[in-house]
Amino acid sequence: MGFWKQLFIGFSLVLCAVGDAPNESKDCSFPAIYNFGDSASDTGSESAAFGSLPLPYGETFFHKPAGRACDGRLLIDFLAERLRLPYLSAYLNSLGSNYRHGANFAVGGATIRRQNASAYQYGISPFSLAIQIKQFDDFKSHANDLYKQAKTTFERSKLPVPEEFSKALYTLDIGNNDLYVGFQTLSLDQLHAAIPDMINQFVSAVQHLYQQGGRAFWIHNRGPVGCAPVNQFYHPHPPPGLLDKYGCVIALNEIAAEFNKQLKVRVIKLRAELSQASITYVDTYTAAYALIRNHEKEGFKNMTAICCGYHVKSVHVPCGAKTSINGSEVYGAPCKDPSKYISWDGVHSTEASYHWLANHILNGSLSDPPVPITQACHKHYNKL
Ligand SMILES: *[C@@H]1O[C@H](CO)[C@@H](O)[C@H](O)[C@H]1NC(C)=O
Ligand SMILES: *[C@@H]1O[C@H](CO)[C@@H](O)[C@H](O)[C@H]1NC(C)=O
Ligand SMILES: *[C@@H]1O[C@H](CO)[C@@H](O)[C@H](O)[C@H]1NC(C)=O
Ligand SMILES: *[C@@H]1O[C@H](CO)[C@@H](O)[C@H](O)[C@H]1NC(C)=O
Ligand SMILES: *[C@@H]1O[C@H](CO)[C@@H](O)[C@H](O)[C@H]1NC(C)=O
Repeated sequence: MGFWKQLFIGFSLVLCAVGDAPNESKDCSFPAIYNFGDSASDTGSESAAFGSLPLPYGETFFHKPAGRACDGRLLIDFLAERLRLPYLSAYLNSLGSNYRHGANFAVGGATIRRQNASAYQYGISPFSLAIQIKQFDDFKSHANDLYKQAKTTFERSKLPVPEEFSKALYTLDIGNNDLYVGFQTLSLDQLHAAIPDMINQFVSAVQHLYQQGGRAFWIHNRGPVGCAPVNQFYHPHPPPGLLDKYGCVIALNEIAAEFNKQLKVRVIKLRAELSQASITYVDTYTAAYALIRNHEKEGFKNMTAICCGYHVKSVHVPCGAKTSINGSEVYGAPCKDPSKYISWDGVHSTEASYHWLANHILNGSLSDPPVPITQACHKHYNKL
């Protein structure tokens, strides 16, 4: 009797699981991606606006400059691959672009908060998040007009389908530059005090996209920005306590962690406010720091190793640049095997590290709720 009872319970559990499964495990089939961010996800806007990044940028995958601050593909490229969508055309790129499956508004050097011209010396660009959102609005209304006017299938083939704006995945990955430039120009207390304003402006962007019909959001938190080797250029002789044992600037990572803590609290509130939205918060910090911590096991050199550029003592020749030093020409050359490096040029990551990150975050294991990106349109968290 006991056996049959157990069997019956087991059987009904299976039935329940099967009964619940179809909606929960169904892929969202996102028809498009709209991305907002900085150089970590810019697929050509900075190059289009300010001049292209020369080879060796792009050498690994595209074998030519590809508008990316990387030797190859970025996290957003691996994200598009995972969703079986083409790589995103940059909004500012006028030649050869195709917006049928989304558009990329990210620009290298972009910040959440608008910066004044004095920040440009730190590589900050004027295309702040609010400007990217404004560009999205213009893009959407212009694309919808063109779609209505189009007379042939061919004319429509490079335009987004109007109904698909509400079915698209909206991805946001921005804020590193706010922290980086703040660290250079403000005291730690001032930078700390500025975080709530950064978060408010970030949240306003999400609210605006929701009002425009966006429903599925995939939000990357800030990575360990203190680990970028460029931070060490400013401290050739670091005082004790400045760096952790992996070479990361502790105070800057702590600021990023504080930003993330506040962002997560606001994302949870946003879910209550935007009742029809699915908002996934993705802990890229934990993923990236795990890679840095376990670099050896994962087959990478440590964070002091920069693949591209000439960095000897206090002489820094950027990746791809040439300078004359004491009458001889010095070239910021690439390393032989970028797949062994986490840092490509001291500021940006290699394709190999973006690939590693993609493999560790896109399956949902560091997401809240823990859904893979292919299912980020479902509101799992209401049931948890
Ligand atoms: C599951 O999907 C079916 C059909 O698409 C729908 O009728 C039903 O309400 C959904 N159930 C849940 C729990 O969302
Ligand atoms: C630009 O911003 C910096 C830092 O916030 C500030 O110190 C400076 O006064 C500003 N400059 C101008 C011209 O507004
Ligand atoms: C990184 O690796 C280099 C070369 O192997 C080594 O000299 C250096 O001490 C390491 N630095 C850190 C912070 O682990
Ligand atoms: C350039 O020459 C000066 C004087 O000889 C020397 O002190 C300096 O280290 C040299 N710089 C480089 C990068 O070799
Ligand atoms: C996601 O991928 C990582 C790396 O391969 C793996 O360690 C982890 O268990 C996976 N998580 C899920 C939920 O599949």
